[in-house]
Amino acid sequence: MIQISHLSKIYKTGDVETIALNNVSFEIKAGEFVAIMGPSGSGKSTLMHMIGALDTPTKGKYILDGEEVEKLSDDQLADIRNRKIGFVFQAFNLLPRRTALQNVMLPMTYAGIPKAERREKAKKFLEMVGLGDRLEHTSNQLSGGQMQRVAIARALVMNPSILLADEPTGNIASAQAAEVMHIFQKLNKEGHTIVMITHEQDIAEHANRILHIKDGEIVNDNKGHKQRKAKPN
Ligand SMILES: Nc1ncnc2c1ncn2[C@@H]1O[C@H](COP(=O)(O)OP(=O)(O)OP(=O)(O)O)[C@@H](O)[C@H]1O
Ligand SMILES: [Mg+2]
Repeated sequence: MIQISHLSKIYKTGDVETIALNNVSFEIKAGEFVAIMGPSGSGKSTLMHMIGALDTPTKGKYILDGEEVEKLSDDQLADIRNRKIGFVFQAFNLLPRRTALQNVMLPMTYAGIPKAERREKAKKFLEMVGLGDRLEHTSNQLSGGQMQRVAIARALVMNPSILLADEPTGNIASAQAAEVMHIFQKLNKEGHTIVMITHEQDIAEHANRILHIKDGEIVNDNKGHKQRKAKPN
């Protein structure tokens, strides 16, 4: 589903060059649940932006669902992002003066889904993340954890085959974090591919595979760590 080969991303800010990703290669198969861990500034969010086709690499190749991303037009990319990929960003990226309900309805508006259906679905997903009583609150009337859960509901409402989440539990209490992980595991069982950035080991343990990234390079790819953990040795 996701095939990344020899991918590098170099940011240029004035005279400063930052190698955010350095010759990274890996594959993620459909149905995997992958956690990405690594220190601050190691390139995790950059990698997520690449996987989500939000930004282009400086070098290397990216094949998403059999299609070479560099060869797609901007319109094709926008459509893929809206239909195939659900994003939960580190900074939430909610529209500030819109209500929770309006924020979750937005991706469906782009997809041309009728209004009544949009409302009903948005409400259902907000209830799923425990915000049934905050539908009409605007983003600035919500707590950080609540905004995060609105962002999760918005990411899921189009039923994306891939969910990309940057620190989805970073700003929420541990009971809510457990609830979010419960939702992710349920989605993964239903066949959704999940890539989640986290700095918390116990959150990462919910995934089936952990990629460790350091200075823009993958230093450890811990596949099937659960199975290994389960076996006494
Ligand atoms: N748009 C940008 N322009 C210039 N440099 C950038 C840009 N985005 C990220 N960087 C730099 O690239 C490096 C990797 O950043 P990235 O956001 O991917 O880190 P991260 O692993 O997500 O960190 P954190 O855990 O703090 O969120 C950092 O050194 C950062 O300063
Ligand atoms: Mg980040």
